[in-house]
Amino acid sequence: MNIATQKPLSKLIIKNVRIIDAYNDFIGSVVISEGVIQKIYKEGSEIADASSYQTFDATALAVMPAMVDLHCHFREPGYEYKEDILSGLRAAVKGGYCYVAAMANTTPIIDNTELILKNNTKAQKADLCAYNQISAIGVNLDDKILVDAKEISKLTKLFSNDGKSILSEEFMEKALATSREYNFIVATHCDDETELIERDLKILSQTKGNLHICHVSKKQSVDLIRKAKADGLNVTCEVTPHHLFSHDLDYKVNPPIGSKEDNEALIQAVKDGTIDMLSTDHAPHSAEDKQKGSPGISNIETAFSMYIKVFKDNNIQLTRFCEMSSYAPAKLMGIDGGIISEGKEANLIIADIENLYKIDKNAFISKSNNTPYDGYYVCGKILATIIKGAVKYDSGQAL
Ligand code: NCD
Ligand code: ZN
Repeated sequence: MNIATQKPLSKLIIKNVRIIDAYNDFIGSVVISEGVIQKIYKEGSEIADASSYQTFDATALAVMPAMVDLHCHFREPGYEYKEDILSGLRAAVKGGYCYVAAMANTTPIIDNTELILKNNTKAQKADLCAYNQISAIGVNLDDKILVDAKEISKLTKLFSNDGKSILSEEFMEKALATSREYNFIVATHCDDETELIERDLKILSQTKGNLHICHVSKKQSVDLIRKAKADGLNVTCEVTPHHLFSHDLDYKVNPPIGSKEDNEALIQAVKDGTIDMLSTDHAPHSAEDKQKGSPGISNIETAFSMYIKVFKDNNIQLTRFCEMSSYAPAKLMGIDGGIISEGKEANLIIADIENLYKIDKNAFISKSNNTPYDGYYVCGKILATIIKGAVKYDSGQAL
């Protein structure tokens, strides 16, 4: 396993590969040079000028857009023993991500431009994948004083008190009204999930603004969101790997893993478009902290394979997977993603999506390996992650 080898792949052909993006799924070859997808060939066509390129025959493998995760926890500052920006980014590129947004529930809480800039600078120096530091929406993660949204919204479009629910209705109104004024998104964490979602949708219908609902886990919640979307409300939502992959599993995580009925409703909501995107809610904790009751799952290295397993088991097309794992979150952030076409930046994963493999938590490179899924069979192994044309992760089995 090799992270950040940064092989100077000035010219690469990925040949005979299944090319899947948000719109297409076909066999062909992808030609990359100078960080950009230069050319795409359909199966059978002759590749021009092939001799001057490094060629990788990816028969039986797939190339897909590298993923965009709008919800992870990298714990810096304050809990670097669980994860820090560098270890989180390394785990993220191993997991197939080219862009991650990290939550603000650190110590101190990230609720000002100074802390955001500090983390963004650290991440930039790591030169692994793009990093967006999310801001708290309330000072100190409380639902009392709004952060300086005017200044902070110049640095990030994502504001969230994730880890803590916004209980004050008045604060929620103010947050949504301000999100409209400065064009950012309020991403909510709802402990009494259905009740708070219902309240927030009601506020949204009056105040307008931009609402994103984190880690939807219950049937009633997706029913509410489906109706709100039909009514034309500006709301998006995400699901996590564990809620889509499991039901009736007793492992401490917020929100808790639901019933079979909840799980089936989530899968249906993925199919019908009610759920917009796939996040990780990567929540690393040390073994000791887990024992003391900290909620969360170290997900970023296994999210892809858990999701692919669910999509395949439920006959959901992998174009939909690409739409949800890269196209939709990228679109929400106003960046390019989810499409493999000529002229686009080469942000790609090469994966084996045919064979089952077993999750091995001892192979995690995250600082934390808190997962209930050790030994579970999943499908979809990332063999390489290419970001802006450079190999940032190579399992040693590709390229
Ligand atoms: C989150 C964390 O660890 O930061 N854990 C989780 O289970 N999602 C915090 C939280 O949402 O409670
Ligand atoms: Zn979270």
